[in-house]
Amino acid sequence: MKAGLESLGIAVPPTYVELAELAKARGVAPGKYVDGLGVTRMAVPLVEEDTVTLAARAARMALDAAGATGEDVGMLVVGTETAVDHSKPVSSYVQGLLGVSTRCRVFETKHACYGGTAALQMALDWVRSGSAKGKKALIICSDIARYGVGTPGEPTQGGGAVALLVSDTPKLLAFEAGKSGVYAKDVMDFWRPLYSKDAVVDGHYSVQCYLDALEGAYKAYQEAAGDAGEGGLYSDRFAALVYHVPYGKMSRKAHRHVRALDGDKEPDASFDRLVGPSLVLPSQVGNIYTGSMYLALASLLSTSREDLTGKRIGLFSYGSGSCAEFFSGVVQPEAQARVKALGLETLLERRRALSIPEYEAIMAAREKLDEKPAEDTAGEGFRYQGTRDHKRIYTR
Ligand SMILES: CC(C)(COP(=O)(O)OP(=O)(O)OC[C@H]1O[C@@H](n2cnc3c(N)ncnc32)[C@H](O)[C@@H]1OP(=O)(O)O)[C@@H](O)C(=O)NCCC(=O)NCCS
Repeated sequence: MKAGLESLGIAVPPTYVELAELAKARGVAPGKYVDGLGVTRMAVPLVEEDTVTLAARAARMALDAAGATGEDVGMLVVGTETAVDHSKPVSSYVQGLLGVSTRCRVFETKHACYGGTAALQMALDWVRSGSAKGKKALIICSDIARYGVGTPGEPTQGGGAVALLVSDTPKLLAFEAGKSGVYAKDVMDFWRPLYSKDAVVDGHYSVQCYLDALEGAYKAYQEAAGDAGEGGLYSDRFAALVYHVPYGKMSRKAHRHVRALDGDKEPDASFDRLVGPSLVLPSQVGNIYTGSMYLALASLLSTSREDLTGKRIGLFSYGSGSCAEFFSGVVQPEAQARVKALGLETLLERRRALSIPEYEAIMAAREKLDEKPAEDTAGEGFRYQGTRDHKRIYTR
């Protein structure tokens, strides 16, 4: 049975910081952030936004794009590493906000930036096994990436969500059953202690852990696919490669590594062709942790000038700690037109630039958000209002 993405939805905050401005404020050459890290703008969520509201907005877009309702959903999973509660999953809030059926398996998954992929793979198996019985799985990757003001990780923050509607009628991407390679290793490259809102990262080590995991997963994929000896550079079997993208330069390093493993003497030469279109949207949003690779996939389908119909895409998902997976899918007819119709580039253009003091004020306010008394504020869309009797209150 076919299984894959029927539709997708994206939510990004309405505000961002220009990284050239941030660099100036930190006394750093703007070229370091913009060219050195490959990020132009970094999304900054407003104080009325959190992992729940971003997830709900992305999910709404994915359901509407497929003409589906909450009644069609039989599995609702949020992959996140910035949850809002130690016990109650983000997905339960989303279920309430969207009116998803009570006949639904609702839970949350965590493994740093890999959490969404873990949920996606589970959903694909659920559909392929026949257990879904025509129902769809709504998998949402939602996070606010936060390293803190003045840290080396500061220019690699961001926030946003990507929702993936998974079913037996994939209209965007059909994933290839059995074609997947995994790699997991206990490492301390990135973590967030229970007492901290900011992540702790051993930045340069995390880059090496990512590349080690990529190599392991890529080799495991080739073994699973069983076609390594067929000649040519292995990664040329893919029309595009979509890497987990905490910042654009990481995708370049990843691609260089893959091509070097293939034996390519000019590992950078194929970068623009195979990877370039997947970085257009991420370079305007920054790191969104679990959703980063899926934002890159949306970027590829939305901005590539090549007709990708019927072609194979390779995807690499990495979660610090660590667990990684290299897998593949085939682009479905009209997929690019469907994603273009979502108007994602226009969505990003409509955002407002924040000054550095405005951004810093939001970062400070987020420190106290969990204890903020709920206020009744009017306005459109899903919004976090604060807490009342230790309960988070949302408006829709
Ligand atoms: C990514 C990270 C490690 C960068 O750390 P840093 O010590 O501040 O930055 P670096 O000195 O390594 O410089 C970053 C890049 O900018 C380049 N650079 C520096 N100044 C530059 C300038 N003026 N113009 C252009 N490029 C410049 C560097 O050469 C380097 O490129 P390279 O990686 O190709 O060598 C840091 O931002 C971080 O910890 N981020 C969070 C962790 C993360 O995202 N990990 C990814 C794996 S999950």
